[in-house]
Amino acid sequence: MHLPVMPEEVLRLLNVSRGGLYVDCTLGLGGHTEAILSASEGTRVIGIDQDDDALGLAHERLDRFGDRVLLVKSNFSEIKEVLTEEPDGVLADLGVSSLQLDSDTRGFSFRFDAPLDMRMDPASGGRTAAELLEELDETEIANIIYQYGEERHSRRIARRIVEKRKAGEPVTTTTELAELVKRSVRFNPKDKIHPATRTFQALRIAVNDELGSLERLLEALPGCVKPGGRVGLISFHSLEDRLVKQAFKNGAVWNAVTRKPLQASEVEVQENPRARSAKLRVALRVGDPSETTQDGANRSETGTHSSRRWSKRPRRRPADRDPRLSGEEQGW
Ligand SMILES: C[S@@+](CC[C@H](N)C(=O)[O-])C[C@H]1O[C@@H](n2cnc3c(N)ncnc32)[C@H](O)[C@@H]1O
Repeated sequence: MHLPVMPEEVLRLLNVSRGGLYVDCTLGLGGHTEAILSASEGTRVIGIDQDDDALGLAHERLDRFGDRVLLVKSNFSEIKEVLTEEPDGVLADLGVSSLQLDSDTRGFSFRFDAPLDMRMDPASGGRTAAELLEELDETEIANIIYQYGEERHSRRIARRIVEKRKAGEPVTTTTELAELVKRSVRFNPKDKIHPATRTFQALRIAVNDELGSLERLLEALPGCVKPGGRVGLISFHSLEDRLVKQAFKNGAVWNAVTRKPLQASEVEVQENPRARSAKLRVALRVGDPSETTQDGANRSETGTHSSRRWSKRPRRRPADRDPRLSGEEQGW
């Protein structure tokens, strides 16, 4: 069962209780979408996923909401092509779902012996993880494992992969790769995760071009969301979080709702270990910059967030403040 990460925080910070149209860019098993649709009668959701299996299961789960929900198979980087009206909010809960990780045939996990595929959308015709290991040179493989997996032993792992390839024994299954990594890295008793975890994560990110898709989504969002609308991104990797943080710095487009990323509570992490490394950032779409008056105030609804207005707001005692949220979220 895939539990949605930080559902209460997502609903609150995306202002979902006020109804409106939302886009869930990463539908998965529909956990966040279900929470959004249940939050208020008038809410509608467009749920996007590139994984047919996820879309099928989410369809069953969300059927009772009728025409308040529309499911679309697409890469979220194509969000503009999917939309016919500007949404009030957009959510993306990045990365892989437990449906994918728990599959014994799709190659996301070394818990099952399976072909090294790892494509979220096998119909895309993109390269599988096995094909990447077959076609890339040693340095390219090492760079992927180092950058996306933060694996210190990336060079040694890449060397062994290429050695096997040259010997006519390319790595083609999850078990072969996990064994190779285990033999390549020094055992560290402090390591709480399997030594192959970082390498598998890195390959998955590369196979699905996860950072490229996120970059394209972040570029598209300003042209999609209503002025005054909100976007929330949940990332699980420092490279993803850095891209989101950087995009939200563009003050002509975004007003950060979360000054610092929100993290799941200890209670949630105990129930849902996947939430441990999750970081939620939310931003509000400011009005069209061309509508901005000379004094910096904005004529649209979001004009109330101009810097002049900020400086006039009364300050609260530090003890009342949540340093992760912007002043507006705290009502000052
Ligand atoms: C972490 S899960 C989402 C779980 C969901 N929030 C829930 O509560 O059930 C991520 C989902 O996003 C999908 N996904 C990842 N990258 C995508 C992309 N670029 N375009 C479309 N879907 C994507 C995956 O296939 C996966 O089903």
